[in-house]
Amino acid sequence: MSTKTKFVYTCQKCGAEYPKWAGHCADCGAWNSLVEDVVVKSNPRFSGYLATTTETVSLLAEVTSDTKSRIPTSIEELDRVLGGGLVVGSAVLIGGDPGIGKSTLLLQALCNLSQHHKVLYITGEESLQQIAMRARRLELPEDKLFLLAETQVEKIINIAIQEQPEIIAIDSMQTMYTEIIPSAPGGVGQIRECTAQLVRYAKQSKAALFIVGHVTKEGTLAGPKVLEHMVDCVLYFEGEQDSRFRVIRATKNRFGAVNELGIFAMTDRGLKEVSNPSAIFLANHDVPISGSAIMVTWEGSRPLLVEVQALVDDSHLTNPRRVTVGLDPNRLSILLAVLHRHGGIPTYNQDVFINVVGGVRITETAIDLALLLAILSSIRNRPLEQGLVVFGEVGLAGEIRPVQSGQERIRAAIKHGFKKVIIPKANAPKKPIPEIEIIAVKNLTEALQAVR
Ligand code: TYD
Ligand code: MG
Repeated sequence: MSTKTKFVYTCQKCGAEYPKWAGHCADCGAWNSLVEDVVVKSNPRFSGYLATTTETVSLLAEVTSDTKSRIPTSIEELDRVLGGGLVVGSAVLIGGDPGIGKSTLLLQALCNLSQHHKVLYITGEESLQQIAMRARRLELPEDKLFLLAETQVEKIINIAIQEQPEIIAIDSMQTMYTEIIPSAPGGVGQIRECTAQLVRYAKQSKAALFIVGHVTKEGTLAGPKVLEHMVDCVLYFEGEQDSRFRVIRATKNRFGAVNELGIFAMTDRGLKEVSNPSAIFLANHDVPISGSAIMVTWEGSRPLLVEVQALVDDSHLTNPRRVTVGLDPNRLSILLAVLHRHGGIPTYNQDVFINVVGGVRITETAIDLALLLAILSSIRNRPLEQGLVVFGEVGLAGEIRPVQSGQERIRAAIKHGFKKVIIPKANAPKKPIPEIEIIAVKNLTEALQAVR
């Protein structure tokens, strides 16, 4: 096939392409996100229907599905986010900050998997000695894992064709390159083309593929969003570098739910599973502090107790700051508007900082009420009652809306010794529960009254 190379500028955020560089992406509005990229244009005369005439159509009912197509990784928390194990022929992208534990988790999973399957671990970052040293230190079963230090995709695929591994892992995609593109490894074009080749090979050979991807300083996977479209499952590592806990979240999964979390602790013996994580993110305060509220979040099939902290302070800026860690900043803006309109509490001349303690990210709206009460507590400089747990979604009309698994959340609060909950009216249990005082509220006014 004859090929011709062309330069384009690709937005790292949305993948839009432009013929010229600009400081601003007209598609998604991101600033400074265009990078030079190379596209390989195939000659149109050789592509198209002629090339695909060997394909045939199939009846849905006649397509066989392999019942044994899930492979357990023997790391339960990883299986949980994968939706019950690794799917044969699937591609899984593992993203996260450098040093967060991607290679450690991968090595642990691969050593275990290699006991029953043929596994090939391809590294472009560490030397084989470094990997061997790590495996020995972690006392992993190392006798059956195949390693390869290589960064050229064509060579990797050739070796895979010879060796026929059932599971292939690439650490990391940013170090890989393909000969058909002249640009340096790590560029958007290289990443996209290398991933496409490897995923194509994996699908054809029915091998499962793990791909490690680095994260940019903005917190997105390097390379445009197209990378996420090419794989079946995207797992993100969350967590703060100085905290021992690491959370893995599936942000995309073609074979399972996306809201499951896998929780690990980084120890001197690698990543250890935390199978009962409900209270690990709770900070212990000797005295109650203002600006702090505790909520029960329901992630996947488990409750988690999390502390939300707010700091509201006089601002000297024309545009006061709104900063959130572990939370969507737009959600904060909406809640501040609701607090003003329906609670009569203005914050237009205040800086508002929000932190979800422990480095977890909360994506569900059940955090709303806890967030508002934490903000209120900071404005009043008065702690909320000790032993109080709060959850509930706040609507634009100031109504408090129910959240899923309300009863289970209350039970989780009781289990950890909390004495009082403020919850949406629609989540109130029919009968009172002796262990805990339940305050069910319909709207923001009632909620504010409950913490007077
Ligand atoms: P690593 O898996 O190399 O990170 P990534 O591949 O995501 O860049 O993790 C390295 C970090 O983990 C390093 O800072 C040290 C820490 N670590 C431990 O604390 N204990 C261990 O047993 C291992 C293997 C790593
Ligand atoms: Mg690594």
